[in-house]
Amino acid sequence: MTTPKTPVADAGRAAGTAAAHRADANPAAVDSATADFAAAYPVRPVPAPGPVDTAPIATTPAALEELDPLWRAVVHETRTRGNDIHLPISLAFAERLCRAYPDADAELVRVATLLHDTGWAHVDESRIISEGFAGDWRKAAIRYEHEKQGCDVARRVLPGLGYSAEFVERVCDIIDGHDTRPAAHSLEDALMRDADRLWRFDHAGIALASSWFGMDPATYTDRLATEIVPELITQAAHDMAVADLARSTALLKTAVIR
Ligand SMILES: [Fe+2]
Ligand SMILES: [Fe+2]
Repeated sequence: MTTPKTPVADAGRAAGTAAAHRADANPAAVDSATADFAAAYPVRPVPAPGPVDTAPIATTPAALEELDPLWRAVVHETRTRGNDIHLPISLAFAERLCRAYPDADAELVRVATLLHDTGWAHVDESRIISEGFAGDWRKAAIRYEHEKQGCDVARRVLPGLGYSAEFVERVCDIIDGHDTRPAAHSLEDALMRDADRLWRFDHAGIALASSWFGMDPATYTDRLATEIVPELITQAAHDMAVADLARSTALLKTAVIR
């Protein structure tokens, strides 16, 4: 069994979901699923069939209480690398994105987003900033380690909360490689990736993440515009990012304080 269906979106199985399930630890299967997803969604950014909310994320917090037991199971993991800020804000964006893309399996997107970075709590903390946010950080060994450790967290906590073994593996298919795989392999994977980026555009994300990269807010928000906006996969995420960036740069006066 899985957890109850939610009002975020009907948990109908999208075409990309089946592809994601094939994408276990087999690199060829991941490549195949990635190609299937690219073929199924040839227009990029992917247009949104549902409503796109570009208001400040604080106006729509992640509110579905059914995930509270899962939050309680990973409180320890939220105390590393700002996860107690990053994960709730990312989940709020994930739920918003699921309303914009009602074909996605919202439960899968939400659980994968909540858990995706919990693995940071189980790697060498001293290496998180020195390796995870410097140089070619997306390919740092510690990045792969936090993805593997995040899968271990998912496999440890989800079965006891009633999630099926099949669902747990689909969650792991998304967590494994969320930073290090070059492309998404399903709509759900794409929405989790976009949610993971969107939190950085909120002023709370800028405050936290700019310090990780050793950048002042102006330099960091310039980088968001030039490097992160083009990485967003969905049109809804793009619209949310641009709206948030305009608000945040005005609030922080980055045009002047630079
Ligand atoms: Fe990550
Ligand atoms: Fe993340």
